[in-house]
Amino acid sequence: MTTLANERTALVTGATAGLGAEFARQLAQDGHHLVLVARDEERLRNTAEVLERDFSISAEVLSADLTTDDGVAAVANRLRDASRPVDVLVNNAGIGLLKSFEKNELEEERRHLRLHVQTPMELCHAALEVMLARHTGRIINVASVAAFANRGSYSAAKAWQVTFSRWANTAYGRSGVQVTAVCPGFTHTEFHERMGMDKTVAPRFLWLTAERVVREGLEDNARGKAVSIPTKRYKVISALSRIMPARLTSGPPRRPAKQ
Ligand SMILES: NC(=O)c1ccc[n+]([C@@H]2O[C@H](COP(=O)([O-])OP(=O)(O)OC[C@H]3O[C@@H](n4cnc5c(N)ncnc54)[C@H](OP(=O)(O)O)[C@@H]3O)[C@@H](O)[C@H]2O)c1
Repeated sequence: MTTLANERTALVTGATAGLGAEFARQLAQDGHHLVLVARDEERLRNTAEVLERDFSISAEVLSADLTTDDGVAAVANRLRDASRPVDVLVNNAGIGLLKSFEKNELEEERRHLRLHVQTPMELCHAALEVMLARHTGRIINVASVAAFANRGSYSAAKAWQVTFSRWANTAYGRSGVQVTAVCPGFTHTEFHERMGMDKTVAPRFLWLTAERVVREGLEDNARGKAVSIPTKRYKVISALSRIMPARLTSGPPRRPAKQ
């Protein structure tokens, strides 16, 4: 675990499941108070109760749909509140779309792009207002190793997060704000079940635990790294993806789960 100062506050989006829940858990374990964001309010309250009890921290619940203007504004306003500063922002909420770009409804693609690009951009903008004034802050954007491959609009959206984080870490690092794109490979969470994807398309050795992805991500962010790729195997895969022909980095296919 990283050595973060106690009595700090972290805001995590998508904090009720998978990687977001694990970010919340590890940050709470490290003494951070929390602002937990997702849509399902009851699940948020349950998560907050467990973390408050287990780690003696306080956890606020902010129920918001981050594909809507109102939802994003509510979270951005919380981040801009200098009287209750947020020290760590984790832009994590995300979804996958099973079908190929042209087969998805345009509205689905709009929400997908909003959640993975526009929303983190707006939340970074809001968080930086207070972080730069305080000369301290940490931002983690949960991207994906898909950012280095060619897998439809998901890769394109995650590539935005990586490029933006690289730039922002250089631009704001000297002002005390460290920005990292965490790039997981296949990780056991609810992500694939939610999109109805058959998880056997990826071999077992490629599957990671949320615990490891988050631990390495927090450590890399504390070290000031702009990009965190958990595990050696995914570092190698990502490096190869960047030099391989596009047609070789567009798989494996997303296959629907068997009913
Ligand atoms: N799992 C993987 O293999 C993998 C690999 C690479 C990258 N990632 C990335 O990791 C991030 C986290 O994914 P995960 O695997 O942890 O998925 P997950 O287990 O399905 O969790 C997704 C979280 O996001 C929240 N969420 C979804 N849509 C939302 C919306 N419109 N507004 C607010 N919150 C929303 C969900 O809560 P509610 O439903 O209550 O809103 C949930 O807390 C995503 O950005 C994903 O792209 C995952």
